[in-house]
Amino acid sequence: MDTSPQDPRYFYERSALSFSVNSMTHNSLISGTELLRIESCGFREACRRGGMVIRRGGLVAFPTETVYGLGADALNPVAVNRIFTVKSRPPDNPLIVHVHESREVEYITAEVPRIAHELMDAFWPGPLTLVLKRSGVVPDLTTGGLETVAVRMPKHPIALALIEAAGVPVAAPSANTSGRPSPTLAEHVLDDLAGSVEMIIDGGRSEIGVESTVLDVTCDPPRLLRPGGIGIEELRRVTGDVITEVEPTGLPRSPGMKYTHYAPEAKVVLVKGEEVAEMIQRLREEYQSAGLTVGLMLCHETMWSGCRVGEEALLVGRGDDPASIARNLFHAMRLLDRREVDVIIADGSFERRGLGEAVMNRLEKASSEVVTARS
Ligand code: TXA
Ligand code: MG
Repeated sequence: MDTSPQDPRYFYERSALSFSVNSMTHNSLISGTELLRIESCGFREACRRGGMVIRRGGLVAFPTETVYGLGADALNPVAVNRIFTVKSRPPDNPLIVHVHESREVEYITAEVPRIAHELMDAFWPGPLTLVLKRSGVVPDLTTGGLETVAVRMPKHPIALALIEAAGVPVAAPSANTSGRPSPTLAEHVLDDLAGSVEMIIDGGRSEIGVESTVLDVTCDPPRLLRPGGIGIEELRRVTGDVITEVEPTGLPRSPGMKYTHYAPEAKVVLVKGEEVAEMIQRLREEYQSAGLTVGLMLCHETMWSGCRVGEEALLVGRGDDPASIARNLFHAMRLLDRREVDVIIADGSFERRGLGEAVMNRLEKASSEVVTARS
């Protein structure tokens, strides 16, 4: 493996070590939350124990291929209500229901159109969430009172085995406090939720790093509600057309998208354009001369000579490989928050294809200012 400082993986692996709990390899109890490590507990045993907690109405944070989820029995309103409480999540923001087999989809939905079957065949298990008409078994709390339910079959083996062990569909939002960057490591979940959930299963880092794509298939053509792990180009290969514009009525169809999201404590300034290095350096100087501390999130291609990578600047990935940026994005935001910087300047010069659309969406939502650099 290439572990030169230029390799984006280098940043993640090395910086992950700065999280204190990362050095522990055994199961432990932290403020009343049980932390299960796959290395010491074993895969099957961890999922069996997690499944039992969920069946009894408890909360279990678990890894998925996108981000960590906070799971509860989707059909138990008391359990689902606790998700909203511990996350401080607005009650009108519905949850995604996670399944491990197609039979569960039939149980919780009223109607599955042909296009939904085609999408499931193409992308499940995986980072695609489908919004479908719900059946009567799903409580109002889970769907935020909507007549639809969002359904996803995750790809991560721990997620699948946990849902199977629970024996019920599992409602799971990202396992962060509402508004904070989504967790891609068990350590991130601990930071936000230690003491308020029964269990966290640590399965290492989430491979994709941004949440699933949410697609409404109750309309024709389907409507994109949130860009995510499956790119729009890939969706179009199956569906032909996809509506990507925001609802003309201004009424957000995906209630979650109207809230501030993914935001670190620091002010985020997003710099768009193709040649952004000069603009980033200029802004950095302005903030610094105003007495503020600055952290930079840079693409490999933007680095300039003398740029202090690993210190002031975090290398999040390659601009021509947006997937590499997606993997590091939320971790980088959390890391800069730990350093207590006042301002994060984020490089927006990466390509918008594939995961690039999801990364740009999360950065736009996190930022309070967008600057465009002209070359
Ligand atoms: O990758 C993911 O999707 C992760 C992992 C844990 O699976 N989960 C996740 O959940 O990101 P959450 O709760 O953070 O985001 C769910 C999004 C929200 O924007 C919510 O408004 C939308 O899905 N959503 C859920 N149910 C919906 C529905 N019935 N109609 C429209 N949007 C819905
Ligand atoms: Mg979330």
